[in-house]
Amino acid sequence: MKLTIIGTGYVGLTSALCFANAGHDIICIDKDENKINSLKNKIPTIYEKGLLEMLISAVDNKKIEFSSDLAKGVKSSQAIILAVGTPQDEASGKADLSYIYSASKEASKYVDEYKIFITKSTVPVGTNHEIKKIIEENCGIKIDVASNPEFMREGFALDDFMKPDRIVIGVENDKSQKILEEIYQPWIDKNFPVLFTDINTAELIKYASNAFLMTKVAFINEIENLSTKIGANIKDLTKAMGLDHRIGSAFLNPGPGIGGSCFPKDSMALNHIAKNHEIELSILEQVIASNNQRFKDSAQKIQDFCKKNNSKKIAILGLAFKAGTDDVRMSPAIEIIKYLLADNFEIYAFDPHGIENSKKIFGAKINYCASLQECFNSADEVAILTEWDEFKNIKNFTNFNEKNIIDLRYIL
Ligand SMILES: NC(=O)c1ccc[n+]([C@@H]2O[C@H](COP(=O)([O-])OP(=O)(O)OC[C@H]3O[C@@H](n4cnc5c(N)ncnc54)[C@H](O)[C@@H]3O)[C@@H](O)[C@H]2O)c1
Repeated sequence: MKLTIIGTGYVGLTSALCFANAGHDIICIDKDENKINSLKNKIPTIYEKGLLEMLISAVDNKKIEFSSDLAKGVKSSQAIILAVGTPQDEASGKADLSYIYSASKEASKYVDEYKIFITKSTVPVGTNHEIKKIIEENCGIKIDVASNPEFMREGFALDDFMKPDRIVIGVENDKSQKILEEIYQPWIDKNFPVLFTDINTAELIKYASNAFLMTKVAFINEIENLSTKIGANIKDLTKAMGLDHRIGSAFLNPGPGIGGSCFPKDSMALNHIAKNHEIELSILEQVIASNNQRFKDSAQKIQDFCKKNNSKKIAILGLAFKAGTDDVRMSPAIEIIKYLLADNFEIYAFDPHGIENSKKIFGAKINYCASLQECFNSADEVAILTEWDEFKNIKNFTNFNEKNIIDLRYIL
């Protein structure tokens, strides 16, 4: 089946490659021409394990095309997937829907027959209905919309897409459901759970899932505070808790706060959705506050730790918001470094894939190291802020015992 994807970022690109891998013919549209040119030349625009190989294979087998020609993209397929960003509006904390609405409006100019617009971006309840209104009013043709929120984790994106826990699809009628079934037939054949719901429910499932996961992390982070104070062993504690199948071990690792481009912004957005409907999500409000405090407290831990040794120089291992990605959006490491810079710290940082994106934030305000060893050697105090597996290798460095290490990810 021919599919058009508008927005070729983390979600758009990985979805495109997986749909191509499943047999569909994909045209990826992005307004960022540099991105399109790079992908045309088989140069990945993001880091994700296995992505390069899939990109080369899809391009060589002509299963995927990259273009900034929106007219061509819209005209080529009956099914159009929207995967543009829905960042947090800085002032209000709401989801900023300007990209999704402007992409819908631009695309509507080229709709000359029935189409279905499928939203993969995370959007508040009611957004798909608004998209339908915008497009139908502009083109004068009846279309359908569907909500197909994406649950992939960066670092495991391709695997998660190919082997999802579940696929959620909100539709408004049987015709849409049939088209979505055709798109996901390779997954249906492999018995992956595909849940069809109404559109509002699908939109809310995504937010409720992310908010729940964020709650779990915020909870265990606070338990870690108590555990540290009373001298309990947090690793034993989380292991024992996680073995209870009602709790589960995922998202039960204490760390420097939960970051990334999704959890904090989706939790804020859900809080706004609830407020608009005059519902108080008091637990979520506390979770958001607790997580913001966690960044500050993690920075404070580093400040106190260095103060004991009269040092304002720190080696930071990890800039990406988690291992397996180059994404530094709302990364705990980035938030913590901001606090340290405000306290005149001298920062030496290393990340296997996150340095280029961090340079866009800090420029020359911090020092970027070319290797893990160089970073480790750059200061007597070392903080681990991302759980990259390779950071465990520092235990083998000959000068390991000469360093003071603060392991905020508990990887050692
Ligand atoms: N990153 C994740 O792990 C993840 C996981 C699940 C859901 N999501 C959701 O998916 C959506 C996309 O997230 P992302 O991380 O892929 O964002 P991203 O910023 O990496 O990619 C968005 C892309 O859309 C392009 N774009 C914006 N407006 C456009 C337009 N009018 N026409 C064509 N292209 C346009 C941008 O140039 C960019 O390349 C968000 O709603 C996000 O919350 C993200």
